[in-house]
Amino acid sequence: MIMIEPVYSPSTSRYETMAYRRCGRSGVKIPVLSLGLWHNFGSYKPLQEIKAMAHYAFDKGICHFDLANNYGPEYGAAEENFGRLMECSFRPYRDELFISTKAGWDMWPGPYGNWGSRKYLMASLDQSLKRMKLDYVDIFYSHRWDPETPLEETMQALVDIVRQGKALYVGLSRYPAEQGRKAYDYLAAHDVPCLLYQDRYNIIDRAPQSHGQIDLSAECGAGFISFSPLQQGLLTGRYLNGIPADSRMARRGSSLREDVLSPTMLGALKGLNELAGMRGQSLAQMALSWLLNDSRVTSVIIGTSSVAQLEDNLKALGNTAFSDEELRRIEDLSAPIQLR
Ligand SMILES: NC(=O)c1ccc[n+]([C@@H]2O[C@H](COP(=O)([O-])OP(=O)(O)OC[C@H]3O[C@@H](n4cnc5c(N)ncnc54)[C@H](OP(=O)(O)O)[C@@H]3O)[C@@H](O)[C@H]2O)c1
Repeated sequence: MIMIEPVYSPSTSRYETMAYRRCGRSGVKIPVLSLGLWHNFGSYKPLQEIKAMAHYAFDKGICHFDLANNYGPEYGAAEENFGRLMECSFRPYRDELFISTKAGWDMWPGPYGNWGSRKYLMASLDQSLKRMKLDYVDIFYSHRWDPETPLEETMQALVDIVRQGKALYVGLSRYPAEQGRKAYDYLAAHDVPCLLYQDRYNIIDRAPQSHGQIDLSAECGAGFISFSPLQQGLLTGRYLNGIPADSRMARRGSSLREDVLSPTMLGALKGLNELAGMRGQSLAQMALSWLLNDSRVTSVIIGTSSVAQLEDNLKALGNTAFSDEELRRIEDLSAPIQLR
């Protein structure tokens, strides 16, 4: 017997519980929680599980999906799977979706498959659009600053990409503040203001705060979007009692190394977990709430490996306020494990 899968029909209440924040001084708002496809959406994940997570997210008002050319594994696989989602579920809802992709890290061999040249950015976005089965993306990012390519070349490529209609907005990721300021100025002078600045920011990695990128994005009229808000899973209950076999840390060649789990790290995470419990939250929820408590943060991009994790994380929205004492406790507990 042939099983016919029912056509996806999103929840009619999908915009009732999510909050949306404006990206800087633009006309566009995005959900405070966005879904990232760096891990868990590549070729090793069954399409059924990918669909379940993406559908659940959209049903709850998460209409911003964050991708990049090389998300996988293998490189390109997350975009290909997103293309499958477009075909089987999301096509009728294209105008309700805010989809990003990026180029700037290694993608294909040779001198034109990495960094920030016009040659790379233009070709990469064309490939991304094909994989994702899209005519345009909502935002295209320069994924990192390239010290060897003139900044003007990278920025002009972004400007031209918008002029060509292949992206509606552009963004920057991982730019040092000095180069970031020049990039914002170039884009604004060419009437393509930067919509979002994207960097890692969470309870234990404060770099964009201490290095000035959060304040700079606000000053230049861009929104700030945090990636790895859970420090790849460290700021959850995942590693409090060992390393689960199905976790990111246990995967071969993982981006999350086992040696970060020092006794100091574990002690601090356990303390934070207890504090979260006193707030009636999981550690993951408290870590997300802490970010959303900062009105300069437009959105946080979560990565999840299951619908249950998404469900858990969405509950963070129910309690994003902190007492002064709770904030002080978070500072004290995280001080020994803060990275930058
Ligand atoms: N611009 C850039 O350079 C850049 C760099 C990195 C990431 N990003 C973007 O940011 C997105 C998010 O990054 P990330 O995946 O590192 O984010 P993250 O939210 O810090 O970590 C996600 C991982 O945390 C674990 N997790 C999530 N919710 C959980 C819960 N409720 N309970 C227990 N564990 C939970 C899962 O680990 P398990 O897999 O072990 O279950 C999940 O894979 C990426 O997908 C990408 O879109 C951008």
